[in-house]
Parts: sequence; structure tokens; C-alpha cells
Amino acid sequence: MPSSMPSARILGTGRFLPPDVRTNRDIERMVETSDTWIVERTGIRERRIAPDGMTTSDMAAAGAREALDMAGIRAADLDLIVLATVTPDMPMPSGAAIVQGKLGAGHCPAIDVGAACAGFVFALSVGEQFIRTGKYRTVLVVGADTLTKFIDWTDRKTCVLFGDGAGAVVLGAEAVASDGAVTQGILATSLSTDGTLAPALYIPGGGSARPPSAATVDERLHFIRMNGQEIFKHAVKNLVAASRAALGEAGMTMASVDWVCAHQANKRILDQVALRLETAPDRMLCNIDRVGNTSSASIPILLDESVRAGTVRTGDVVVMSALGAGISWGGAVVRM
Ligand code: ACO
Repeated sequence: MPSSMPSARILGTGRFLPPDVRTNRDIERMVETSDTWIVERTGIRERRIAPDGMTTSDMAAAGAREALDMAGIRAADLDLIVLATVTPDMPMPSGAAIVQGKLGAGHCPAIDVGAACAGFVFALSVGEQFIRTGKYRTVLVVGADTLTKFIDWTDRKTCVLFGDGAGAVVLGAEAVASDGAVTQGILATSLSTDGTLAPALYIPGGGSARPPSAATVDERLHFIRMNGQEIFKHAVKNLVAASRAALGEAGMTMASVDWVCAHQANKRILDQVALRLETAPDRMLCNIDRVGNTSSASIPILLDESVRAGTVRTGDVVVMSALGAGISWGGAVVRM
């Protein structure tokens, strides 16, 4: 990058969680499971559920408004909106287009990025590239998903895991030193996909492979299918790999990291990641007990909670990492 190219700084964070809480006890009444099993195997105690009529774009716009408020930026001043989601309101138009309209963000371009639970890190990196090249100065990056609408609530292997929500950051251009070194904002990102592992986690119906029909509904093809143990194994390995890759690109090690903000999929995955990164457990930000796995929204919700609680402060170094369907995984190192 030429030295004049700015870095991308997080100017504000925001989140939205639907008010409806579904506890493990509530799920006990739906499938054969127990609060004890769910807490021991996942660390999840409750999750939020978007009610009928509440869409991904509703949540995304609400989270985005919080981030814009904190940043002191008007929606009309945005240059780009990037929405990470795999559950847009409808197949067409993009979820981002609907969010753009709801925010009243003028005519700025709005695009979706679909990398499932890894989506936010991918979207953050896309937003960052536009700022680094000098094309845009102010970019809204949102992660939002309503996966509970795509869960088979009779399948105990998946229905206990997911929750709904949205999180957002506003990125702004920050001048870099004359030597071009990036010392503020997004310091590095690392993205990977292994499409040969797509069958480990997917929704078979509703796309061009199996367009929606009475038969696809009868066969329950619109619900998530998952090989939990395979995903678990790849998550541990690749959340660590993604963190190390992004840190390596930033020329840093875990020694300079204040906080690990990893995708909230399973507390046991997070514990393994902490162990392998040799990080003290209290450096691992965690809210999985209260929100479950919110897919693309997971990292920005956790980041916003941590910023507003005063845990993550200006100047702190945060390493983010996420893995999801694809499978795709990514890491980012950010100085707040
Ligand atoms: N309640 C009670 N028993 C259950 C439940 C449940 N909700 N779910 C599964 N079981 C049973 C199984 O049927 C099995 O019983 P069996 O031995 O009689 O066949 C037993 O518990 C053990 O099942 P496993 O699948 O081996 O359980 P495991 O310890 O692997 O935990 C889990 C399952 C929680 C899904 C885990 O594999 C996991 O978290 N994997 C990661 C998946 C994930 O996070 N996906 C989200 C999207 S991708 C991402 O975000 C990274």
C-alpha cells in the first residue's frame, strides 16, 4: 500500500438483541434435552429469538443506528454498507439494500457478504479494503442473522445452539504515519475458505440446487443440517490458526493482545482456543451463556457489549476470529 493510504478505524459500535428470551428450560419443553446437558456441552443458558415479523434487516438497522450514534455519523454520510448475513429478509434484493433504505443512507452502495458465522470478519475485511485504497472514507459493517427461523425445532442437535441478533461497527478513514505503518484501527486480517467441507454445515433447500417447493418443505430441506463434531474440530483448529495468521500479518504476537473476541459457538471451543493460544481465560470475551450462537452477529454484539461496559477501551488490541459454514474462517487484529 502507498504510504498515503489511510487505515480503517472503528469509530462506533452498536447491537440489537430481540427482547424475547428462550431459556434452556423452555427448550426442555420442546425436545428431549436438559438444561444440564446444554450448559455442560455448550455453555449456553439462554438465547434471544426474533418474533414473527421481525426480520434480519430490522435488527441490522437497529444495531447500525446505535453504532452510528456512538460514531457521531449520520446515515446519509455513509459511503458503503456491508451486511454479513446468511438469513437476508428474502432472496432478492440483498439484505444490505433493505438496511440501506431503512437507515435513509442516501444512495450509498450496499452489499451482502455471506460467510455464515465467519461473516462479520469477512465483511470487516471487505469494508477495510475500500478505506485502505482511498475509495471510501466511512463504511458501516453489520453482522445480523435470524438463524432461529431456519432451525428444525425438533432436532435437539442444532436447536439448542442458535440465537438471533445484530451487531455493527462504523469504520472511518484514519491517516497513517509517513512510513505507511498502520498503528490504529484494523491492523491486519486473514481470511480462508475450504469449500470441500461444505456438507458439514448447510441448508440444502431453497436455493438453485433445490428451489423451494412443497416437496422441499415436506423433506424439511429448509432447515440447518450440521455435523457438530466435525465443525467443533475445525473450529478449534482454525480459530487458533486465523488468530495467529492475522497476528503474524500485523507483526505481533499474543503478548501484545489485550482481548480475544472469538465467535461465540460453544464455550468448550472457546476454552480450547484459549488453551492453544496460551491466553488467560479472563482475556477471552464471552457472552455465549446469554445469547448463544448468533452467527454473523456474534463478534460485533460481543464487541459492543465489551466497549459499552468499559472492558474494551480505546487503544486496546483485540484479536477477532470466527469460523462458519463454507467452511470459512478468518481473523482480524484491531487497535480500538
Ligand atoms: N440434549 C441432550 N442430548 C443431546 C443433545 C441435546 N441437545 N444433542 C445431542 N445429544 C446427544 C446425542 O444424541 C448423543 O447421544 P448418543 O451418544 O446417545 O448418540 C450425545 O448427546 C453426544 O452427542 P455429540 O454430538 O457427540 O455431542 P457433542 O459433545 O459433540 O456436542 C455439539 C454436540 C454441542 C453440537 C458440539 O458438537 C458442537 O458444539 N459442535 C460445534 C457446532 C457448532 O458450533 N455449530 C454452529 C455453527 S458453526 C460455528 O459456529 C463454529
